[in-house]
Amino acid sequence: MRESQSRKTITLIKGDGIGPEVADAVVKIIAAAGVAIGWDVAPAGANAFEKCGTVLPEYTVDSVKKNKVALKGPVGTPIGEGFKSISVALRKRLELYANLRPVKSLPKINSRYQNIDLIIVRENTEGLYSGIEHEVVPGVVESLKIITEKASTRIAEFAFQYARNNNRKKVTAVHKANIMKLSDGLFLQCSRKVAEKYPDIEYDEKIVDNACMQLILNPYQFDVMVLENLYGDIISDLCAGLVGGLGTAPGANIGNEYAIFEAVHGSAPDIAGKNLANPIALLRSAILMLEYIGEQPAATRIQRAIEKVLEKGKVLTRDLGGTATTTEITGAIIAEL
Ligand code: NAI
Repeated sequence: MRESQSRKTITLIKGDGIGPEVADAVVKIIAAAGVAIGWDVAPAGANAFEKCGTVLPEYTVDSVKKNKVALKGPVGTPIGEGFKSISVALRKRLELYANLRPVKSLPKINSRYQNIDLIIVRENTEGLYSGIEHEVVPGVVESLKIITEKASTRIAEFAFQYARNNNRKKVTAVHKANIMKLSDGLFLQCSRKVAEKYPDIEYDEKIVDNACMQLILNPYQFDVMVLENLYGDIISDLCAGLVGGLGTAPGANIGNEYAIFEAVHGSAPDIAGKNLANPIALLRSAILMLEYIGEQPAATRIQRAIEKVLEKGKVLTRDLGGTATTTEITGAIIAEL
């Protein structure tokens, strides 16, 4: 296989649970596709705590700053107690303000709908994910939702620019401004202002609860959706469910300087270490990464290899209704390359 001309260094955060298994699989497939990448392996998550005494070592943040691009496996976050989410911390510290989640049907995947092709653009740095919570008096806690004109305008610009660059026809802003009149109201005002600058792209708005129902009834009416942080988080998993689940859903966190590519799924502790994880979600995130660094031909080749494996339907992991291991599906994708 022909190797690409220049070797790039990219930070690799393998993460926790199934993270190392799917990350190793993706590294092998990218090498087999002939892309020369030097991986700077950097720890984060519970594994990092064991080695370095912190869940997010400065080495890891510095590595992403130096290399500009990272591929990241999932990291575990304790629920309701313990340390704050590392993924959220990385997105904030590196100003990765746009979370891009393409939702596209894959061949032969058992799902409710076929031929879905929509894009979720989620604001990644504020909203209820500001993590500003405190106990007012015992038995009463307050959680602050921060919405700013700067971040709302920036994410709307990203969504419209993405739509224009990728031949998309419509942007839908999703909100709850009927109830949160000030915060979601500001988000909406910013979206409307940006929409005026893009007369070539249709713009509409949906209240978030209705958007959920419409996605189930008729997902084809959507093209690009732009949402503040929490709605984006929930709706992107809902959309992953429309096209066959978490095992294949890719994602990217993009800022002006840096980008981290990671799958939508978590560390899947129930199947960790069992060679059962589906590497396709992280692999499709790596495809977005290859496109981002200008390795379009390899990205296309890997995408085709995934599609061929799925079309043949012989080597599928358990989440896709098969019995194959991570190693076997990785081998099958490499064989198709
Ligand atoms: P999860 O995504 O880890 O698992 C949900 C279900 O999907 C499980 O049954 C799991 O086995 C299955 N699954 C997930 N990925 C799969 C794959 N690649 N192949 C086959 N099956 C797969 O979600 P959960 O259980 O809510 O979270 C577990 C941990 O992951 C938590 O600590 C959570 O905070 C963390 N998490 C981390 C994320 C990140 O680092 N970006 C994102 C989401 C969750």
